[in-house]
Amino acid sequence: MIDVREVSKKYGKKPVVNKVSFQVNKGEIFGLMGPNGAGKSTILGMIATVITPTAGDIYIDGNSVLKDRSKIRKIISYVPQRIALHMSLTVKDNLKFWGNISDTKVSTEHVEYIAGIIDLQERLNERVEQLSEGMKRRLNIGVALIHNPSVLIMDEPTLGVDIKSKKEIVDFINTLSHWGKTIIYTSHDVREITQLCHRLALLSCGQIMFSGSIEEAFHEADKREIKTSSAKGEVDDLEVILSELGEWWE
Ligand SMILES: Nc1ncnc2c1ncn2[C@@H]1O[C@H](COP(=O)(O)OP(=O)(O)OP(=O)(O)O)[C@@H](O)[C@H]1O
Ligand SMILES: [Mg+2]
Repeated sequence: MIDVREVSKKYGKKPVVNKVSFQVNKGEIFGLMGPNGAGKSTILGMIATVITPTAGDIYIDGNSVLKDRSKIRKIISYVPQRIALHMSLTVKDNLKFWGNISDTKVSTEHVEYIAGIIDLQERLNERVEQLSEGMKRRLNIGVALIHNPSVLIMDEPTLGVDIKSKKEIVDFINTLSHWGKTIIYTSHDVREITQLCHRLALLSCGQIMFSGSIEEAFHEADKREIKTSSAKGEVDDLEVILSELGEWWE
């Protein structure tokens, strides 16, 4: 479904992503983790066709990000790390605006349904500039969900979102994957990644240091005799394991 093939990105002479390859299957939630500046947003931007790779290519349902940009834009939705909303428009009008960008017209019922998922149904007629930061984050996710994409690219979508809304969003993303949507997700929250992602890739300085399932990460940690403090399977343990496998402490 998503096939990232030896993709690289340089800014001037500075390499920020270096020959990264991975595949994401239909209906899978794939996590991308790594320290600040590791290249997560750059990779997501290349998949979302807003950043052009310097080398390599990415195929989504067989369409190349280099050659078939407009086809890809019809099947994907992108939640950027930076909030991208019309601040002077209402919540409802933002949802409608982004919905109507795609070919199908969005019904009022659908707008209300999405507003319910992001817990903004009481705020539909307020201007975005009047919302709190966390509410803007939730709306940032809502606008990506409105046109029913088959691939969702989400860059730290739950940053600054409260616990209750985070749970609702995480539950909904799980539901989307059950519906067969393919999701690429970044977060610094290990718990969130373990709750959501079937597989993950660990990035360090633009390169993938490990990719696989959480079970495979534990297995690899055993093989490399990575020592953890508490009982196996706990989030603290996983943080240690991912940091070692990702070489984030080097
Ligand atoms: N437009 C740009 N011009 C030059 N360098 C850039 C540009 N965009 C990103 N970079 C650099 O590319 C590297 C990777 O950035 P990126 O935003 O992909 O990291 P990230 O893993 O998403 O980090 P974070 O966790 O902070 O979001 C960083 O060193 C950053 O400074
Ligand atoms: Mg980023």
